[in-house]
Amino acid sequence: IERFFTKGPLSSKRILVTSGPTHEPIDPVRYIANRSSGAQGTAIARALAALGAEVVFVTGPADVPPPDGVQVVRVETAQQMLQAVEAALPVDAAVFAAAVADWRVASASGSKIKKQNGALPVLEFAENPDILAQVSQMASGRPSLVVGFAAETDDVIAHATAKRQRKGCDWILANDVSPATGIMGGTENAVVLISDAGADEWPRMSKSEVATRLADRIATALTA
Ligand code: CTP
Ligand code: CA
Repeated sequence: IERFFTKGPLSSKRILVTSGPTHEPIDPVRYIANRSSGAQGTAIARALAALGAEVVFVTGPADVPPPDGVQVVRVETAQQMLQAVEAALPVDAAVFAAAVADWRVASASGSKIKKQNGALPVLEFAENPDILAQVSQMASGRPSLVVGFAAETDDVIAHATAKRQRKGCDWILANDVSPATGIMGGTENAVVLISDAGADEWPRMSKSEVATRLADRIATALTA
């Protein structure tokens, strides 16, 4: 109900946010996934809603609960996430904060795989759809602002700049997830915003401050 009354610079805007990991089943009891608490994506959705946006929040199985005042769509796998994203379009802006598994098990077993006297199972993988790239490269109905994330180690800006080119998104928020930074799984983040204008390094701050700052930038871009 809250979202119908929140007034702000994003009042008339519909914004999609993906968040959390995806889980790709191996069998009914096992899966592969990326590490992701969902904290940064959740904070971004909350900050956008606070500025008045109508937020569609497509989330994998995250550790943190979704924010109030957004439309929550829960998914498990990357393929389900893509479907949910397509169903949410059109939107004015889209922020892809999810840590999508790059591969799924090509033929997940419908029944539990049992140990076989020391014989090891062999898993074959298939590549998952790149949701960010697909939306960035839409021929018609593309959101006017598409924001991706890039969690990198080593040479963060170079990797993220190349990733932005390759995927075709407008902005990439890049962060250094080398173990030494202590970022992974923590409450703080240190990001670089890569855009047409180059690389803008933000100081280390809480994930909710990163979210507020990003939401402000999005409001400026959409209302310019
Ligand atoms: N992403 C996505 N769908 C995928 C993979 C990634 O939408 N199947 C999005 C993520 O949400 C993130 C961005 O793409 O916003 C970058 O993800 P990342 O894993 O860094 O990119 P990849 O192209 O998968 O490259 P890498 O080989 O470094 O994992
Ligand atoms: Ca990836």
